[in-house]
Amino acid sequence: MRKMFEHIELAPADPILGLTEAFSNDNNPEKINLTVGVFKDENGKTPILNCVKKAQERLFQSETTKGYKPIPGAPEYAAAVQKLLFGEGHKIVTEKRAVTAHTPGGTGALRVVADYLHRLHPETTVWLSDPTWANHPQIFRAAAVPTKTYAYFDPSSDGLDFDALIKAVESIPAGDAILLHGCCHNPTGVDPNVEQWSRLAKTLAKRKVIPLVDFAYQGFGTSLEEDAQGLHELCKECEELFVCSSFSKNFGLYNERVGAATVVANSSAEAQAVFSHIKIVIRTNYSNPPAHGAGIVTEILGDPELRAEWDAELAGMRDRINGIRARFVAALQDADVPGDYSFITRQNGMFSFSGLNKHQVERLRKEFSVYIVGSGRINVAGMTDENITPLCSAIKAVL
Ligand code: LMR
Repeated sequence: MRKMFEHIELAPADPILGLTEAFSNDNNPEKINLTVGVFKDENGKTPILNCVKKAQERLFQSETTKGYKPIPGAPEYAAAVQKLLFGEGHKIVTEKRAVTAHTPGGTGALRVVADYLHRLHPETTVWLSDPTWANHPQIFRAAAVPTKTYAYFDPSSDGLDFDALIKAVESIPAGDAILLHGCCHNPTGVDPNVEQWSRLAKTLAKRKVIPLVDFAYQGFGTSLEEDAQGLHELCKECEELFVCSSFSKNFGLYNERVGAATVVANSSAEAQAVFSHIKIVIRTNYSNPPAHGAGIVTEILGDPELRAEWDAELAGMRDRINGIRARFVAALQDADVPGDYSFITRQNGMFSFSGLNKHQVERLRKEFSVYIVGSGRINVAGMTDENITPLCSAIKAVL
């Protein structure tokens, strides 16, 4: 008999995190990493927010136990998340129609929802935008949930193909779910406007298609409140929906793995019934969540002073990204790179969908040690005054 592992072949590297590994192994001192969606400051560092440092201090002083958290995490965390998503006093919250479980990151939230769908609604297909975050199809595949794609991006205008999106949604069967990016669409940075969200919400409600909102960048687009407008439009029309939140980016808590899976149901009783199954999904996967990151988020959101500091620090990250977008477009022009790149300033969040093809992306990596994701997605937050000019020369060379 053969040994168990002798016929195992190497699996492909992760399309996003695998590039970080390759970047670390690159000896070129001029290398540039614009891959994974992690905020960097002007010095190329990913800082710990001051409000986070202060909240941590308080937690260290006040914590008295390392006992387990409940399966869905602490109720105070769930309440803080719901307030951030729906706003103070929203009827979904007062009517107790929402339930929230603390999950390890936004990825954990997506997997919890995927496992729930597989167990309770095995006939449901999840529709993903074309394109979408490279991890979305693999998460649903791993949970044995079927996926299909719907039209989203129009390369000819570098914008949203809203008519094609609505047309696609109109053909999704009732009972299926549609994954929507709450704001700062990953990888395109192209979002619907409020009117478009409203029309989309009405179409989904009419078709009885359930929204599953991946909300990983709240506060990175325009503001915490404005970035939630799409979600609010969905809540006006759709009685049932899922929200998968991540606090990796807006609190800079990447390695603490803080996220949440929220389910909105038609009544409090229905929400509790769904929650009972979500708890089983969690218990049989990672049992209960890690405490530290959620403790920080709860502390910040519950304290007016820390909350104000967080708002300001978040605005600082957003302003840097918007500033660098404008600098990038100007630098491309200065380098005489052919084409109109003004669309980059109209995209939201950390990513720019550059239009560079696979071959050009590969040349950037091999010849210039410039790392971007295979779809042509660039993390603009990885640009600095120092690397922006060599970056533009490299782009010019591969075009
Ligand atoms: C990204 O898209 O780069 C981020 O969401 C980080 C990740 O886990 O892929």
